Amino acid sequence: MCPPEHFAVEYAINPWMHTDEPVDTALAVKQWEALRETLVRLGHTVHVLTPEPGLPDMVFAANGALVVDGTAYGARFKHEQRAAEAGRHRAFYEAQGWRFVAPSRTNEGEGDFAYLPRAYGGIILAGYGFRTEPVAHAEAQEMLNHPVVSLRLVDPRFYHLDTALAALDDERVTYFPGAFSAASQKVLAQLFPDAVLADEVDAFAFGLNLVSDGRNVVLNSEATGMAAKIATAGYEAVPVDLSELKKGGGSVKCCVAELRH
Ligand code: ARG
Repeated sequence: MCPPEHFAVEYAINPWMHTDEPVDTALAVKQWEALRETLVRLGHTVHVLTPEPGLPDMVFAANGALVVDGTAYGARFKHEQRAAEAGRHRAFYEAQGWRFVAPSRTNEGEGDFAYLPRAYGGIILAGYGFRTEPVAHAEAQEMLNHPVVSLRLVDPRFYHLDTALAALDDERVTYFPGAFSAASQKVLAQLFPDAVLADEVDAFAFGLNLVSDGRNVVLNSEATGMAAKIATAGYEAVPVDLSELKKGGGSVKCCVAELRH
């Protein structure tokens, strides 16, 4: 995770961002700190990446790489404004002893990739349509040795896969079908008949931008309907308020890059 000390909306690269809307950076830091404390309380180890002035979206650490089986497949950002973040993530992974593979294709890490270790022997779901190039899905498959299923995103509000789909545990997903093309909806229904289906209200409240450890599901407190669905499905919903970061177009999942040995 990377604290939002320099978080601001200085440019608009997704429909949630409005440069004329004021951001309370101190409040963003407080809310982020509460998220970090929640993860620690749930028993997780959180490494903190040093934020850099001039990189206001660095708080969205999930975009820096996809880590599977100890290998970090690095990011290459679509927008110039975020390009320099990739090197900061790379330095982190290399310093911590992870095997790092540099990407040659545009991809925004876990923003557009989700990994399910116990579905189909370990499957990677990958979004495209707004940020990550589909050819990066093939590159991820070559680098990480797991099948990658490409899913086309069609609604600009849900520009990253992690705004529309999440892993609830090692094999089960939740998603908002309307964010995907008709064909991709069919693929998801075929692969995940036991998925928890979310609706547009859930997705709009960033209820799918969640982090789950298989038991506890940490999600945006605004997403009350989603929290109820998660509880009905047998998980513990853990709400956190990230209202300031929503102005950047992100929530819980965007703030957390998961490290998988
Ligand atoms: N402002 C950032 C962008 O548009 C938000 C990234 C959100 N991160 C995520 N994993 N969805 O790139």
